Amino acid sequence: MKVVVSAPGVVKFFGEHAVVYGTGAIAASIDRRLYVTARLRNNGEVKIAAYDLSTHGVIVTLKPNGEIVVGTDYGKVIPAIAYVRKAIELTREYLGERAGVELEIKSDMPVGAGLGTSAAVSVATVFAYATITGHELEKREIAKLGHRTELTVQGAASPMDTAVATYGGLLYIKPTSSSPIIEPVRKGAELPTVIGYVKRVATTKELVAWVRKLRDKYTKLIDQIIWAIGELVERARVAIEKGELGTVGELMNINHGLLEALGVSDKRLNDMVYAARMAGAIGAKLSGAGGGGCMLALAPNKLKEVAAAIAIANGTPIITELGVEGVRVEKVEK
Ligand code: MEV
Repeated sequence: MKVVVSAPGVVKFFGEHAVVYGTGAIAASIDRRLYVTARLRNNGEVKIAAYDLSTHGVIVTLKPNGEIVVGTDYGKVIPAIAYVRKAIELTREYLGERAGVELEIKSDMPVGAGLGTSAAVSVATVFAYATITGHELEKREIAKLGHRTELTVQGAASPMDTAVATYGGLLYIKPTSSSPIIEPVRKGAELPTVIGYVKRVATTKELVAWVRKLRDKYTKLIDQIIWAIGELVERARVAIEKGELGTVGELMNINHGLLEALGVSDKRLNDMVYAARMAGAIGAKLSGAGGGGCMLALAPNKLKEVAAAIAIANGTPIITELGVEGVRVEKVEK
């Protein structure tokens, strides 16, 4: 039996980093997906073939005793595999299931670009493992297990990326001490956007830790920046729902400035953000953890111009549909 599951990438519209401290955030799924193919194995082993995760063509076998056997080691694959391994461990524990599986992971989104690949792989692995072993999970359970995977691997993670990879759509997410608030944001007007990305030089874990250190040192100051981001997220939600694109764009620009103040942007991101604005975007900001990775521009009637400007600024542009379907079973073969 074979099961193929896919989950979408995620773009952060508003509120990244601040959401780690409990503010609201807005994020959307994009029309690039990651695919996990699962087959049962009868010896209890978990075998993972990751083709696009971090480097190419690496086969990793996790023995029932916890030993890891790497078929081809290019050095960088273990961090990426950590999400798959943890997702399986948590799902097995949750379901009380020990069956071995063979997983094949392929991604049609660029990895290391800050498009939520770790959330997509966590969520898709949880769902693929549950489905191949004959268990039905609700979206709420998938999102929770996916979030716990990111949390354990990264040390700190909001439920934002895993919620969007699970449910899809354009979502408002606000962590609470119990379950996070996850609500769809209805668009009052289309949101024509372009993503630009450059290679990331730091991980989400490192950037979240960086902000934490800054906050430890300048607590009052950083808390006010976090508060201001939280405030603009609430306004952005209203503006998106009313279709007030001018306000949405201005709030994106303000959000970018505040992320700059947190020290998570860099020159390559700023170059793409300014290039996009000069080419006619009505708002542009870095999107995600920063340290390279991606930016997002709101560009009604200027998609091509903004994409070209991002390319000239040494970024790779992606014109994408926002708010596609979340995790889903693509195929089941008996
Ligand atoms: C990373 O995609 C977004 C951050 O806010 C971290 C998180 O929410 O877990 C930086």
